[in-house]
Amino acid sequence: MSTQVPKQQEETETEAELAEQEPSKGERRREEKRQRAAERREQRQAEEAEKAAADENTIELKVFRYDPEVEGKQEPRFDTFHVPFEKGMTVLDALMYARDTYDSSLTFRHSCRQAICGSDAMFVNGTQHLACKTQISELNQPIRVEPLPHADVTKDLVVDMEHFYDQMEAVEPYFQTNDLPDGELEEQRQTRENREKVKMSTRCIWCSACMSSCNVAAGDNEYLGPAAINKAYRFAMDEREGEDIKQKRLEILEQEHGVWRCQTQFSCTEVCPKDIPLTEHIQELKREAVKNNLKFW
Ligand code: FES
Repeated sequence: MSTQVPKQQEETETEAELAEQEPSKGERRREEKRQRAAERREQRQAEEAEKAAADENTIELKVFRYDPEVEGKQEPRFDTFHVPFEKGMTVLDALMYARDTYDSSLTFRHSCRQAICGSDAMFVNGTQHLACKTQISELNQPIRVEPLPHADVTKDLVVDMEHFYDQMEAVEPYFQTNDLPDGELEEQRQTRENREKVKMSTRCIWCSACMSSCNVAAGDNEYLGPAAINKAYRFAMDEREGEDIKQKRLEILEQEHGVWRCQTQFSCTEVCPKDIPLTEHIQELKREAVKNNLKFW
């Protein structure tokens, strides 16, 4: 018995399959409409960009783009945006203009817009900056905006902060004490001098600019990094924590990937948007670690 499908029947089935695969008239019309709308949008954006480029009072931004989830955008590239300049404009303002006017898929983090939340640290013209604190008028053009180096890029200017948070967590970044005041509602007081000593270290906003600038952290993934060490300094130097807790903190800092990894390159101090003397704090903790290990017979 033959298993071949009779020719006539085969042809009829193929025609039926083709008819099924072919888009209906309505779908074709909708697709054409979508394409025409996309062409009009592209043309409008090109005209706006041309007009802006011709305007002298316009700045040129070259922004890093990458989207691992969208076909055609998986190759890293730079997109150029022309943004009308206004006095007092920051890099964040310019990025927001580019996103709202030209490309709504342009992705970056921001929140407070006043150098407090630490979410918009970026690599601007080759240096780590907070975008909301960086004036356009102080930068050379074209302005090149990239995600923070030495971190995995999630999309466009957004980097994965997981590793940074892990390092912060490793130094137990919270106040600990065995010596609580007597009264339940009594404040745990600190001397004025001690408050002055830790004042600058309390200003950290967890932006990760310092970690991104550090060559040592780039080569040693386990290095605690300047931000975490500074956070440890903030508590180790706080007189209210007491000697036993300080001892525990120094043990964390003395480990192989702790303070001794720092090569005093000062790059972290240079880029810190809150002017924290990070390198100095690390050196002071090195001295504390040495004192801690001195033995007198
Ligand atoms: Fe919060 Fe810049 S947006 S620090």
